Amino acid sequence: MARRKKIYEGKAKILYEGPEPGTLVQYFKDDATAFNAEKRATVEGKGVLNNRLSEFFMKGLAQVGIPNHFLKRLNMREQLIRQVEIIPLEVIVRNFAAGSMSTRLGLAEGTALPRPIVEFCLKDDKLGDPLVSEEHVTAFGWASQQDLDDMVSLALRVNDFMSGVMLAAGIKLVDFKIEIGRVWDNDFQRLIVADEISPDSCRLWDVETGQKLDKDVFRRDLGSLSDAYTEVARRLGVLPSNVTHAAKPTLIN
Ligand code: TMP
Ligand code: ASP
Repeated sequence: MARRKKIYEGKAKILYEGPEPGTLVQYFKDDATAFNAEKRATVEGKGVLNNRLSEFFMKGLAQVGIPNHFLKRLNMREQLIRQVEIIPLEVIVRNFAAGSMSTRLGLAEGTALPRPIVEFCLKDDKLGDPLVSEEHVTAFGWASQQDLDDMVSLALRVNDFMSGVMLAAGIKLVDFKIEIGRVWDNDFQRLIVADEISPDSCRLWDVETGQKLDKDVFRRDLGSLSDAYTEVARRLGVLPSNVTHAAKPTLIN
């Protein structure tokens, strides 16, 4: 079989050249990293779960009219996506204080915020993805004011959709990160949601118990990451049938 051209390899995914111009194949790895890759592990089955979960969220976003890069799932670990020009910013939306916001502002984790807050971080591993202001974004030319307005609007729409989907599964969407890319339709530029949406890039707490069901389980050594992601997938009804972690044997009395 002809070898595919690798376009990019990140910490959790690999991008290969796609079958048609303007497409890419996104491969989900089992690698988990945190704190700028200072902490690493391989979590068997994570890539399979995240491929399915990202497909589920992106398809749902498209169904409510939020444009994104997803075209179709190819197999257990790969999906076909539209090639975009990634804007070098992580767009974070927070509904409740947690993580770096709690540290920075001295807010107890779980404190409800007065309204959803959108933050931008520069995508630069060497600098540890620093928080930047809209002033930085426009002054350094990472995105225009129009792009920023469109990004905030996209991010808030994603937040509304994701919060609702999660709540229906008994999960509170505390915060999440998305990446946004430009696509060109002739001379007309549009911004669409890209990268992935999965428990790697969200904070997800059980509504009743507050149990963490996201990558904080790995960051903070709280238990099995694959069990947490499997639980999210199970509640959303998106469990692939042949993942070994998916179904635990149950004792029949
Ligand atoms: P933070 O509280 O560490 O700033 O994270 C905010 C949200 O962004 C949280 O849901 C985790 C997600 N996130 C990523 O997806 N990638 C990253 O590199 C970081 C730092 C956070
Ligand atoms: N994704 C980042 C890393 O791998 C940080 C994080 O998610 O905590 O280092």
